[in-house]
Amino acid sequence: MTEYTRRFRQLATNVVHAGAPHPHIEGAVVSPIFQSANYLMADEAAYDEVRYLRLSNSPSHLSLQARLSVIESGEAALVTASGMAAITAAILAHARTGDHLLTQRTLYGGSQSFLDRDGPRFGLSYTAVDASHPESWGEALRPETRIFYLETISNPLMEVGDLRAAVEFCHRNRLVSIIDNTFATPVNFRPLEHGFDVVVHSATKYLNGHSDIVAGAVVGSAASVARVRDLLLHLGGSADPHSCFLFERGLKTLALRVERQNDNALRLAEFLSRRAEVKTVHYPGLATDPSHRFAADLFAGFGGMLSFSTGDVRRSEEFLDRVRIPLHAASLGGTESLVVRPARSSHLGQTPEEREALGIGDDLIRVSVGIEHIDELVDDFGRALSGE
Ligand SMILES: Cc1ncc(COP(=O)(O)O)c(C=O)c1O
Repeated sequence: MTEYTRRFRQLATNVVHAGAPHPHIEGAVVSPIFQSANYLMADEAAYDEVRYLRLSNSPSHLSLQARLSVIESGEAALVTASGMAAITAAILAHARTGDHLLTQRTLYGGSQSFLDRDGPRFGLSYTAVDASHPESWGEALRPETRIFYLETISNPLMEVGDLRAAVEFCHRNRLVSIIDNTFATPVNFRPLEHGFDVVVHSATKYLNGHSDIVAGAVVGSAASVARVRDLLLHLGGSADPHSCFLFERGLKTLALRVERQNDNALRLAEFLSRRAEVKTVHYPGLATDPSHRFAADLFAGFGGMLSFSTGDVRRSEEFLDRVRIPLHAASLGGTESLVVRPARSSHLGQTPEEREALGIGDDLIRVSVGIEHIDELVDDFGRALSGE
């Protein structure tokens, strides 16, 4: 019988070894790709036990899920076809028709439009709150409020809420706390260790880290993950084995990559904040950033994402044309640095007025800082800002 129970004390060891099949299947050092949709019947007693890809129970899924549950400090994990599959399944599995959610003011655009456009069809409503002001949350509560949905570091303004207060508020008001930990990664913050109920990820980003798959993950208690898995079985958003393989391969270097990205992003944020061409820098690692006090209290590092404004859309566009190292592309969390205007990517679905109300100016540039040499990145940004 193959077991997927290996675990160690340190995250850097667990990203390489946790959940690896024991004994190694056919002696393979790396978990092979189990590219088979179905499996021979054994002694299954329930539908859930039938081995079939949509049930997320091939060896490719089991080892990856075991590894994810260890590194995010959960009892169980589920890998999904995308981050949005993880987010929508986690919300829908924990909500009932007529429920109300509290959400953080700025969220990833896809999560926001799910709540705006699809939520009402499932009978769900929400109130967006300022996650850094716990005293304002109480008035948004309703008898039917069931979920508080947050992002550890929000997209694209890198806001960090009062996460300790959020856990306490959820316990006091019997809310399920669901947090998107994509930007922070478990290297910098593990929400379940602090009392959050459910963690979701777009594994497309840092967990895989190589911009070559779309995938997601849900981690939490065994009961929560089972609820999400039961729903995903019907929605059909399971991951394919080849994605699981690439995901697991990328995950092995998570600690190395994120530590380098933390360092690079801090250096770049400090550099940008000293430049006259830059109006504002959003990075929780800067002592002057409004989110710094919450982030410094809880995080091991401040992450690889930052954003900055130039005060002028045309100047921002010129910057994007001039930089040579970062690629001008949406998405984030890979080894390569990326730059993009959220008004043209993640928040294109919102009107300029809606974006402005959230503080997302059309001149805002979001940077996913990669693992390149920081001196060369800084030089490139400096040159592009000076108009060279
Ligand atoms: C914070 C965050 N959550 C979720 C998602 C959605 O993930 P996916 O594209 O893997 O569905 C994204 C995508 O950009 C994101 O940035």
